[in-house]
Amino acid sequence: AGVVETSFHVRNLTVNRLCQNQVITAVNGTLPGPTLSVKEGDTVVVHVFNESPYNLTIHWHGVFQRLTQWADGPEFVTQCPIRPGGNYTYRFNLTGQEGTLWWHAHSQWLRATVYGALIIRPRTGRNYPFRTPFREDTILLGEWWNADPNDVERAALATGGAPVNADAYTVNGWPGDLFNSCTSISNNTYRLNVVPGRTYLLRIINAALNNQFFFKIANHNLTVVAVDAAYTNPFRTDVVVIGPGQTTDVLLTANQSPGLYYMAAHPYASAIAVPFNANTTTGILAYPNTTQTTPILPVLPAFNDTPTAFTFSSNLTGLVTSRFWSSVPQTVDENMFITIGLGLSDCGSNQTCQGIFGQRLAASMNNHSFVLPPRISLLEAYFRNVSGVYTTDFPDQPPMVFDYTNLNNSFNQSLLMTPKVTSVKKIKFNSTVQIVFQNTALIGVENHPMHLHGFNFYVLAQGFGNYDPTNDPRKFNLVNPQERNTLGVPVGGWAVVRFRANNPGMWFIHCHLEVHLPWGLGTVFLVENGGTPESTLPPPPADFPQC
Ligand code: C2O
Repeated sequence: AGVVETSFHVRNLTVNRLCQNQVITAVNGTLPGPTLSVKEGDTVVVHVFNESPYNLTIHWHGVFQRLTQWADGPEFVTQCPIRPGGNYTYRFNLTGQEGTLWWHAHSQWLRATVYGALIIRPRTGRNYPFRTPFREDTILLGEWWNADPNDVERAALATGGAPVNADAYTVNGWPGDLFNSCTSISNNTYRLNVVPGRTYLLRIINAALNNQFFFKIANHNLTVVAVDAAYTNPFRTDVVVIGPGQTTDVLLTANQSPGLYYMAAHPYASAIAVPFNANTTTGILAYPNTTQTTPILPVLPAFNDTPTAFTFSSNLTGLVTSRFWSSVPQTVDENMFITIGLGLSDCGSNQTCQGIFGQRLAASMNNHSFVLPPRISLLEAYFRNVSGVYTTDFPDQPPMVFDYTNLNNSFNQSLLMTPKVTSVKKIKFNSTVQIVFQNTALIGVENHPMHLHGFNFYVLAQGFGNYDPTNDPRKFNLVNPQERNTLGVPVGGWAVVRFRANNPGMWFIHCHLEVHLPWGLGTVFLVENGGTPESTLPPPPADFPQC
């Protein structure tokens, strides 16, 4: 195994999108940022130089960070931000994972433009568990505002309401040409030129902040072979559903008549519920020797087509013949039932906020709205025994049982107004943890893409309505469930995941809809040290950023 070493210079630059100039923060002057390509087993060393005016951290989304906890990146969870003018070297190893991951800023809303792909190919002498594709390419879906994304977030938090919609969705940094005259089909639109008869591996990454997407390529079927850098049984589909934070690797065979075909993506069941309109982004699949000038457009599912989304996400299964597969823990040490959903917090006296009832929008897990500590990271506070930074009383159950998904609930105001706390959940090293996520409908029903740092979890079952502890366990797939780091908990439904807590540290678990983070939809798992050097949190590196 080798070492892949590179530098990220993060600075502001002006780019032109949607017919106007906009200052963005970007890595090495590109949007998306540089792709990190490595082989399984390699060590990655990234020297990050913060030449931007903002505080910054970088998170390596989906990387296990075994004994490199200080490199995980979420601001105030594992580290203090890198100050403007500062630098920090992230160093970690990629053993036991193959496929597509990505990296992004984990500070304010910087990840809107500070993101890129992390591609892990098999080590030399090893093959994919599917026929070697002719070529590979990466498709990063993103969101674009005609504004500084940090300002968009700040404005939403100031008014207490929802953030304004993105002005466009993007493929590899560009709004599609279809609804945006300033992106030209001849140059900026992402284009995949194919050779007829050949098979391509497309690595699709959803780097958007606030939206899940449906993704389709006109007239072509896709075969899913991996999600979140874990191999799946081949799953044939004409549409991919991808939540923010997730990745999906698909095989595409160029088996249609020569021509031009759009690949297109638009939001699925987002809070902002945009129908099929200018919020569709496109790229082009192009065969040689075609006289066609207008690509064929795929028909995307309606933005609220939950059955299609559910069919896709509930039919994926893990590839047990993969060399990285380990069997599902059959017993559970820690059983958690976690309600996730939106709520409200007090607007303050003499004020009216734009959330409902004149209050401020908030979000919670088991009625706790998570707040980050302001001056030290949780991991450092734990390592140095600094008291008063967090509590360890995150509850295993919600405060009361109620009809979680019935919007007409005459609900209890106490469930709506959630306390703001920095409370984490302690877990013994190597415990097996099962979480039932129950999506609640106290105000509005939406899918929450739950992301766990540091681990993959197995997705045992998903369903609609209220989770039934008597009957639903019979639906658990304990044989070949899909393995993921981010899971969309169904709109008005539930999902059950299980993982082994085999890495000590402070691991963020949160909704990857970016605005839900400052609203409080998260907590942290504090996995305690085991009894061996391999199960003990090492000290932070010498250049670790100080607050
Ligand atoms: Cu991809 Cu905590 O994030």
